[in-house]
Amino acid sequence: MTMRNYLPSAFLATVVSASVFGGSRMSAQRPLAVAPLSAAMFVVDSAKLYTEAQAEEGAKVWTATCSGCHETKDVTSADFRTKWVGRSLFEMYEQIRTTMPDDGPGTLTPEQYLHSVVYILKLNGLPAGETPLVSDSATMSTLKFELPPPPHFVP
Ligand code: HEC
Repeated sequence: MTMRNYLPSAFLATVVSASVFGGSRMSAQRPLAVAPLSAAMFVVDSAKLYTEAQAEEGAKVWTATCSGCHETKDVTSADFRTKWVGRSLFEMYEQIRTTMPDDGPGTLTPEQYLHSVVYILKLNGLPAGETPLVSDSATMSTLKFELPPPPHFVP
């Protein structure tokens, strides 16, 4: 990751719209100005996949159900990340739903499984945002588990 990912969205929006609507004198520079900044906006916005309220619900599920068998590092370790980075949140949701808790797979509600996934995102340092994660297979299939850039990284 490079520094451009940490620019605030408002600044990026301003620069991008200035580049797009700035008139012909800007046109020659447009490919250079727009391409990297658009990519940066995608990174910043796409990292905020859940709300803090969902993470709090997830923490409750984790404490009540998962922590009997799991330590935090089970879902934050290098091994876990190697296995899951790049895979969809729906895959993670389905794996947890169909195999966990180990002594009673499928016994939690869909919301509790969703909140478990959210809590795993939080434990891995992904920031909360304004839009809740929804337990809709089509949407969750398009969202990938990706680690945040270093300032948000919580080992
Ligand atoms: C009764 C014990 C037990 C409980 C309770 C339990 N787990 Fe597990 N979990 C395991 C075991 C054992 C494994 C490893 C073997 C496996 O994958 O089945 C595992 C594996 C996992 C994995 C896969 C880790 C990896 O490296 O891919 C995830 C994710 C997970 N559990 C999440 C949860 C969540 C979330 C909860 C709470 C909703 C939970 N587990 C509750 C025992 C448990």
